[in-house]
Amino acid sequence: MKVKTLYWFVLSLSLFISSCSRAEESAADTITSPQNQGDLLQGKKVLIVYLSRTKNTKTLAEIIHRKISGDLVPLELETPYPEHYQTTVDQVAQENRTGYLPPLKTKIDGMETYDMVFIGFPTWGMQLPPPVKSFLMQHNLAGKTVIPFNTNAAYGIGSSFETLSQLCPKSKILEGYTTKGGVERDGIFFVMEGEKEKRVEKEVQQWLTNIALLK
Ligand SMILES: Cc1cc2nc3c(=O)[nH]c(=O)nc-3n(C[C@H](O)[C@H](O)[C@H](O)COP(=O)(O)O)c2cc1C
Repeated sequence: MKVKTLYWFVLSLSLFISSCSRAEESAADTITSPQNQGDLLQGKKVLIVYLSRTKNTKTLAEIIHRKISGDLVPLELETPYPEHYQTTVDQVAQENRTGYLPPLKTKIDGMETYDMVFIGFPTWGMQLPPPVKSFLMQHNLAGKTVIPFNTNAAYGIGSSFETLSQLCPKSKILEGYTTKGGVERDGIFFVMEGEKEKRVEKEVQQWLTNIALLK
């Protein structure tokens, strides 16, 4: 009797778990339709990809994700950059000089199914980071709406947004968003918390409204 009860318990539990994971899968695929969706967002399938080393751009990506929904995917490399800041700066400078595109571990399934792609990155060497160039060279974003977002150490976006536009010649590029993040050179790593995070949250809301993704 006890064995039978245990059998039914395990069976019900596994049915419950599998129905939950199916619900999660379909939630990732379907477009949520909150009241505040702007005209440009309605009926669109959204991907939010981002590169982040010290989690500032990651936090910005998460803020955007909370407001827009869609699939949130970090860009990871087959061979991660060194932990040491200056070694990374030197490696990135060398990659930019030679046009080397570091291979990505991240693979996006069903890229063709997305209508809108947010692409987030820190400024590196006043340029678009090489892994983001790898992503843009690997994926055909023609016909999609592309929206850049960025954090930097206050020197700005440099040529990053311009390079992104050049690498997506057949995409519709919307106005991007940028904010000051960490200053790794000075030992300031993660800053996107507390008041700063709240301020960014408000600015992001305004930006998404300005570009007609939110009402
Ligand atoms: C290799 C490297 C190069 C960087 N170059 C710049 C730069 O040229 N201009 C700038 O303002 N910040 C620069 N930074 C600082 C980052 O853009 C800034 O800390 C950003 O918020 C980091 O984002 P993350 O926390 O998502 O990695 C650089 C950081 C690294 C690691």
